Amino acid sequence: PTATVETDVVVVGSGPAGAAASLFLSTLDVPNIMITKYRWTANTPRAHITNQRAMEIFRDMGIEDQVLADATPHDLVGDTVFCTSIAGEEIGRIRTWGTRPDREADYQLASPCLTVDIPQTYLEPILVRNATARGTESRFSTEYLSHAQDADGVSVQVLDRLTGAQYTIRAKYLIGADGARSKVAADIGLPYEGAMDIAGSMNITFRADISAYCDHRPSVLYWVVQPGSNVGGIGAGLVRMVRPWNEWLIVWGYDINEEPPVVDEAAATQIVRNLLGMPDLDVEITGTSLWGNNEMYATHLQSGRVFCAGDAIHRHPPSNGLGSNTSIQDSYNLAWKLAAVLKGQADPALLETYSAERAPVAERIVKRANKSSREFVDLFVALGVTAAKTEEDMVRQIEERKANTPQGAAKREALVKAMELKNYEFNAHGVELGQFYESSAVVSDGTSRPEPSRDPDLYHEASTVPGSRLPHAWVGDNKRRLAMMDLAPYDRFTLITGIAGEKWEVAATKVADELGVPVRTVVIGPGREVTDLYYDWAKLRDTDESGALLVRPDKHIAWRSGSLPSDPEAALRGALSQVLGKD
Ligand code: FDA
Repeated sequence: PTATVETDVVVVGSGPAGAAASLFLSTLDVPNIMITKYRWTANTPRAHITNQRAMEIFRDMGIEDQVLADATPHDLVGDTVFCTSIAGEEIGRIRTWGTRPDREADYQLASPCLTVDIPQTYLEPILVRNATARGTESRFSTEYLSHAQDADGVSVQVLDRLTGAQYTIRAKYLIGADGARSKVAADIGLPYEGAMDIAGSMNITFRADISAYCDHRPSVLYWVVQPGSNVGGIGAGLVRMVRPWNEWLIVWGYDINEEPPVVDEAAATQIVRNLLGMPDLDVEITGTSLWGNNEMYATHLQSGRVFCAGDAIHRHPPSNGLGSNTSIQDSYNLAWKLAAVLKGQADPALLETYSAERAPVAERIVKRANKSSREFVDLFVALGVTAAKTEEDMVRQIEERKANTPQGAAKREALVKAMELKNYEFNAHGVELGQFYESSAVVSDGTSRPEPSRDPDLYHEASTVPGSRLPHAWVGDNKRRLAMMDLAPYDRFTLITGIAGEKWEVAATKVADELGVPVRTVVIGPGREVTDLYYDWAKLRDTDESGALLVRPDKHIAWRSGSLPSDPEAALRGALSQVLGKD
């Protein structure tokens, strides 16, 4: 006889999407079981770049300090080098991840957090530890086999890989965060656009102390242009920092239409020595693996009580560093909605907004990452190496950039443009932070999103048009400095207003009681809970002082009122009811 255990939500996967989903659900006191196939979390470093939005989410969960303690700090992430090898000549550098002073201003103004770098092998244990401490039942060596759903719930069939025993978990909802080869997504037949395995990459992890080449140009990425570096892969050869400056990951392409290469220790050592330009270097190879580059996204993310998140719904190369970040953000969007429905605060219709809001994000990031990877071609064309037939020819072409000849001058000019283009991969602030939602969980106030005044991929523009992420400003008093996001915790809705809007407070209390959903009002102004320390919020809020912003648990603006209406209670009731699917 097989036992049946019960819970509210089953999460399949302990990667960034799954571990984060469990953490968010447990933080909201939603019973959940996280199952994962292997005996522990990721065993290779994989994704590293942890962008401002993900860091904000960690801040919200109270684990930002734990992530920072294990991360390579912001000031060491961004002096990105393009070279012929680590010990070889430089072709150029670009300041990345918002580290160039003018761009750093954009990043600092937009968020209380900055981009840092943490290998997945360090991040996942932090997420799993906190999720488990807060209530998640974590089941390792446990494989998802199948599920069946009915009107009241989902029965999930799982296999204990230690004992071989199968059992059923009966839940209200199932989240498939089981990665790029998601069985859950296949089982619910999610629709996809795009293709998998469009190019081949190999990962080689190794130890070698190369501080002498990094201390003065600290970066997490060193791009190498060498014979073979434009074959397959992610655009060019990459020497990727795992820990500064003695643990590394090389990403090197191969032709996916040929037999997969055999990467034994000797072959791996040779590739490492070539990319480092250090023919005699003592290297300790710690691992090798082959992986396919994908360009695929799901156009719908849910079937009834089953949802997918993370690589299960977006598959793309690491360019722009979006994989793990977006996976965490998917779960952040979904978990509060599940909690609201499970607690009877919202109608199940709210859950449909997950797909409406996150499927466009999946499409955007998959396209952006692949475009960035392809844009490396411009660098190769600028150098003239795409046409090079032999290794010698390639070296000659790269050398030509030094020549005092018309060809040399043209090459230098082309390089300026090709390097400029890489900002779309490494300083794409708009892509990283500018997620905007349109769904029934966002109530229009009749305004539309302002036309971007600068390139929307490169630049983030703060806005309070419903659907936008709550803009950042510092508020507080003589004892505390808080970010705007700190005023709006994950376990409730928050109504933000000014002193002239104090009447909203009574309205919010009544509506919250009536709808049975927590809503807290924050009045910003001198002598109130917090004040607008730098007078920045007054310029950002885009409402009268008496207006109000209704902020969702995930810090997106659900609705706004430009000023205090004659009946604030009715206005708020209408908006919140719609968001909760109760109208
Ligand atoms: P993820 O793949 O991390 O996790 C899936 C989880 O599901 C795992 O815990 C797995 O055990 C579990 N699982 C799968 N099937 C299951 C089943 N049937 N039953 C139970 N559990 C099951 N990104 C990047 O930005 N930069 C990079 O350099 C790299 N490099 C890289 C290398 C390699 C080798 C891989 C595989 C991936 C990358 N990535 C990457 C991608 C990045 O790792 C990816 O975007 C995130 O891990 C996605 O997180 P998810 O949680 O969605 O899936």
